[in-house]
Amino acid sequence: MRKLTSGELRELYLDFFRSKGHAIISSASLIPENDPTVLFTTAGMHPLVPYLMGAAHPAGKRLADVQKCVRTGDIDEVGDSSHCTFFEMLGNWSLGDYFKKESIAFSWEFLTDEKYLGIPEDKLYFTCFEGDADAPRDTVSHDCWMEHGVAPSHIFYLGKRHNWWGPAGLTGPCGPDTEIFYDTGKEKCSEGCDPSCPCGKYLEIWNNVFMEFNKVGEGKFEPLAKKNVDTGMGLDRTVATLQGVESVYDTDAFTGIIQTIARLSGKNYKDSAQTIKAFRIVADHIRCAAFMLGDPRGVTPSNLDQGYILRRLIRRAIRYAMQLEMPENSLGTVAEAVIAQYGGFYNELNDNKKKILDELSREESRFQQTLKKGMREFEREKAGFKDGRIDGVSAFRLYDTFGFPIEFTQEMAAENGLTVDVEGFHKAFEEHQLKSQAGSEQRFKGGLADAGEQTARLHTATHLLQAALRKVLDESVSQRGSNITAERLRFDFNFERKMTDEELKEVERLVNAAIEADISVVCEEMTVEEAKASGAIGLFGDKYGERVKVYSVPGYSKEICGGPHAKRTGELGKFIIKKEEASSAGVRRIKAVLEN
Ligand code: ALA
Repeated sequence: MRKLTSGELRELYLDFFRSKGHAIISSASLIPENDPTVLFTTAGMHPLVPYLMGAAHPAGKRLADVQKCVRTGDIDEVGDSSHCTFFEMLGNWSLGDYFKKESIAFSWEFLTDEKYLGIPEDKLYFTCFEGDADAPRDTVSHDCWMEHGVAPSHIFYLGKRHNWWGPAGLTGPCGPDTEIFYDTGKEKCSEGCDPSCPCGKYLEIWNNVFMEFNKVGEGKFEPLAKKNVDTGMGLDRTVATLQGVESVYDTDAFTGIIQTIARLSGKNYKDSAQTIKAFRIVADHIRCAAFMLGDPRGVTPSNLDQGYILRRLIRRAIRYAMQLEMPENSLGTVAEAVIAQYGGFYNELNDNKKKILDELSREESRFQQTLKKGMREFEREKAGFKDGRIDGVSAFRLYDTFGFPIEFTQEMAAENGLTVDVEGFHKAFEEHQLKSQAGSEQRFKGGLADAGEQTARLHTATHLLQAALRKVLDESVSQRGSNITAERLRFDFNFERKMTDEELKEVERLVNAAIEADISVVCEEMTVEEAKASGAIGLFGDKYGERVKVYSVPGYSKEICGGPHAKRTGELGKFIIKKEEASSAGVRRIKAVLEN
């Protein structure tokens, strides 16, 4: 296997596809054009949707590129070994030209040939679509891999959840895919461990999507005029595999950035689990922020949309920079290391260097002042929180007065062995919102009202999810934890085993049916006894006090809860389950999003 650097892999990939008749196109902006449904470009195919739908691309029918992408759904998970908010996707496309056989042959040659990556054949595993009512079993891809000499024990058929990709928004091009995995050599985590298992034994390195369908509505697929191929390979991840390092942060792409953080903090990256996490968060978030600020359609920190995500990234980086005791205003120096690493390929970073550094410094000064005051306040008050729990009003005060996003408060609390009453926080948030609206103040101090609305929608979706799980799985299913950010909901519940694809689909279907019915969300106040008698679920402990609020979506769900919620289910958009996994013994975790 060849130990390539990131720059070498980029070049080799593009050279390879050039030699196979592909035109090399440049990365599109991180900010999608004319697409209000997503904030950032999330895949190489995104800017190519019109061409996948049939329009002629000026560069021809065979294209390849390296696309800048951002996925912010998992900001909370950055700090582990594989999650990043910014990443580069290597992609090649056939727009109605070659299809499965050639696409698989290209991938096989690039991965295994000594001239290219030279990965030992027995380290590779493959998955193919098992077939359902929408599309048949993909025996063609399966047989293509076999023709290259892959052992049948290295090929798995999996369902839609794993082997179907797209559309990127609500509708558009999509299709079955075949995914390529690298076996890290770790022990199998269980008897049934296969490439779909997230335990880390198998790393997905390439995805070849055979886009032959246009999704026109829920469960409705029409054949596309032309059959296309869309592929994606994560650059950092593949480099980590080739370099044999444990995480993307240990590849050459991050060397200069990590060294800069070490120099500024006087600490070593691998001193402890805490420094590893903090180094990775600062490195990832500042890399992402530099690309967002330096983009040709670059954004600046604000309280809306892309600007809000950027602000969250910078502020989270600042908090971890402070934990590492980096000097104030040193994020610009980290960004310079990012520009030194990437500016050669992405000229826009050099062109916009001044803007990147100025904006980082401005946001840092703005935030550092309030944050410092807030941290002092937190330290002062931390011993006084009752039962190791930060109540909702205090969490709201940290947010409202000191600019602490609720996620920060939760992280700081966890580091101090405390928990946070998140529901109480939302309740305080809502009450404040009502008051400030009454005072005809349209905006909140801190200006996060828009994120608040999205949170309310996700909160309503959480109720519908719980009701659907009780229907599909068992009446005994109930909430064990819930965490909502502006992007997604996370719901933990008691259940013994992994849910099947059918169960997940049915849960999604029930939630979306409630959304489509556009029902008014009703809030009533009553006593705990009345709530119980009316069949409401939820925690009946005394922390809710004498009278409680009961939110219902008539016909679907009824729960004791502090809110806030959406006014009507129709505001929610489309409910999509992104992940179902174990959380702890006997507890499962679902992550889901609402797409507008
Ligand atoms: N569009 C496909 C992906 O993002 C290749 O995985």
